[in-house]
Amino acid sequence: MKKIKIAVDGHSSCGKSTLAKQIAKHFGFTYIDTGAMYRTIALYAMRNDMIAPDDTINQEALQANIGNIKVSFLKNGHATLDGEDVENQIRTLEVSSKVSKIAALKFVREAMVDLQRQMAQNESVVMDGRDIGTVVFPDAELKIFVTADDEVRAKRRYDELTAKGEEVTLEAVLANLRERDLLDTTREESPLRKAADAILLDNSFMTREEQFEVAKNFVERTMQE
Ligand code: DC
Repeated sequence: MKKIKIAVDGHSSCGKSTLAKQIAKHFGFTYIDTGAMYRTIALYAMRNDMIAPDDTINQEALQANIGNIKVSFLKNGHATLDGEDVENQIRTLEVSSKVSKIAALKFVREAMVDLQRQMAQNESVVMDGRDIGTVVFPDAELKIFVTADDEVRAKRRYDELTAKGEEVTLEAVLANLRERDLLDTTREESPLRKAADAILLDNSFMTREEQFEVAKNFVERTMQE
């Protein structure tokens, strides 16, 4: 079977990772959550006091250490930081509120993009993120750009966080999401944008299953090409 790369890009909390995981599971591809990689770097910076209370980042210290930070994934998909499973720690609202600034740093992006390309060397991958179709794999065989209305996205994220016991309000989640959308789309380094050859998938009014059916057809068509 031919080896393919599938890029799933889009806004925060729009169901990209759910879709990417469904595709990976169905077709037996490797799933790579690139947002988790930036979140892991943000967690590292927070733990090492590299982010001041006013959100200023000690870029020098982070840059000096970036080559030594080990970001990886376990077989079950959990992200690890220097070997420690940090899957729960990287999903908090606190990390979510810091990560966009970390992801805007050029040296952080360069390090993560290198790692992402290495991860796709020997296998078919489904990678979700913001710049996969535009920067990481401009030659991806299939590019899907997922989006949904921001209030729909906030409600989904709110339900996810409260189900895990986090005490948050819908307003705070919506505000965080809008702020991240703004930072992600307006930053200088690899801003979030749809690649010209990506297929747009708006899932505001779709169930997960409906969304997967649509995407499955895209993948099957790509594999026949
Ligand atoms: O998809 P997510 O919410 O877990 O992503 C976390 C942050 O990382 C978000 O602010 C966007 C950023 N990100 C990025 O800049 N490039 C990627 N390929 C993936 C995520």
